[in-house]
Amino acid sequence: MVQQRQAGIALVGSGSARPTVALTNEELSQVVDTSDEWIRTRTGIQQRCLLPAGGSLAELAATAGRAALEMAAVEATTVDLIILATSTPDDLFGSAAQVQAQLGATRAVAFDLTAACSGFVFALVTAAQFMRNGVYKTVLVIGADALSRWTDWTDRRTCVLFGDGAGAVVLQASDRDRLLGFELHSNGALNGCLNLPYEAQAEPLAAGKTVQKGTYQPITMNGKEVYRFAVKRVPEVIEKALFHADLTAADIQWLVLHQANQRILDAVADRLKVPSERVVSNMARYGNTSAASIPLALDEAVRDNRIQPGDIVASSGFGAGLTWGAAIFEWG
Ligand code: UT7
Repeated sequence: MVQQRQAGIALVGSGSARPTVALTNEELSQVVDTSDEWIRTRTGIQQRCLLPAGGSLAELAATAGRAALEMAAVEATTVDLIILATSTPDDLFGSAAQVQAQLGATRAVAFDLTAACSGFVFALVTAAQFMRNGVYKTVLVIGADALSRWTDWTDRRTCVLFGDGAGAVVLQASDRDRLLGFELHSNGALNGCLNLPYEAQAEPLAAGKTVQKGTYQPITMNGKEVYRFAVKRVPEVIEKALFHADLTAADIQWLVLHQANQRILDAVADRLKVPSERVVSNMARYGNTSAASIPLALDEAVRDNRIQPGDIVASSGFGAGLTWGAAIFEWG
């Protein structure tokens, strides 16, 4: 097959999904020593949606993907590639192929990408590389996470923050590239600030030989360190992505950040001088949904007609790894 080079990509549809069960701050304060007042004022969160027992991450991701394909009027059978950004797959071997099967995207190759709360931005940029070199023309990028699976419900420093959800965008090859600029970073030296670690016990196997048998431990986080990191690095990485796009912060029409903490959103917007009505925030209803948070916020703002075709969107993900990144794109 001769592969023809296309100039770029267009973001032509979005979708999202959330579990139907919501847990309010009030309810959570019956479980752990916290209060609605503390959670609201320190984070902006009022409730979070939780995947119930028996719930499937792949199903949530597929629901978001289906909605995005519908908005884009794209048949699942024409999708070339599905990238599922998640840290909480149903299957450690990956859940993307399950999503592909559920969507009936029979031609698509599908794989998982793990970059925690930066996952959606990293997946979007990864997808763009396959499209810019002309290999794939129709791509579905999904961010989906169920951090509630790995939350320590006795740790008030973390359990109040997280929720479950999924969001998706459809990308199509286009002569005019709407991914205007991006910048990605990792710093493993700060890995210990935010972890969901595997802890192994030695299991004797044969004479003098052991193997590991263990499980993943609940999320631990140094909230203050991560807060400091986010407030410093996020404006910086957005400015670098804007520079690559030959734009400045004054050109941002919508700021769609990873929904970690309303105070982080406010601080980043302040630093970039983006007015608060241009900052998309839905964390009051969902909390921090990790890789899902950016496409979930984007989809809501597209569906209620805040974000219009042609609008310039600055998005940024940040979190475990540590990882952080920004993508500047024109919607539609
Ligand atoms: O998606 C990955 C990215 N993650 C993030 O971006 C998270 C970044 N960090 C944060 O958002 C904030 O650091 C938190 C919301 C996690 C914490 O807010 P903070 O203002 O940094 O609070 P703190 O950890 O300094 O705790 C202040 C006080 C402490 O009490 P003392 O020592 O002052 O008596 C905590 O024990 O608040 C206490 N506290 C709580 N009280 C009631 C901590 N968590 C809670 C709680 N309810 N849930």
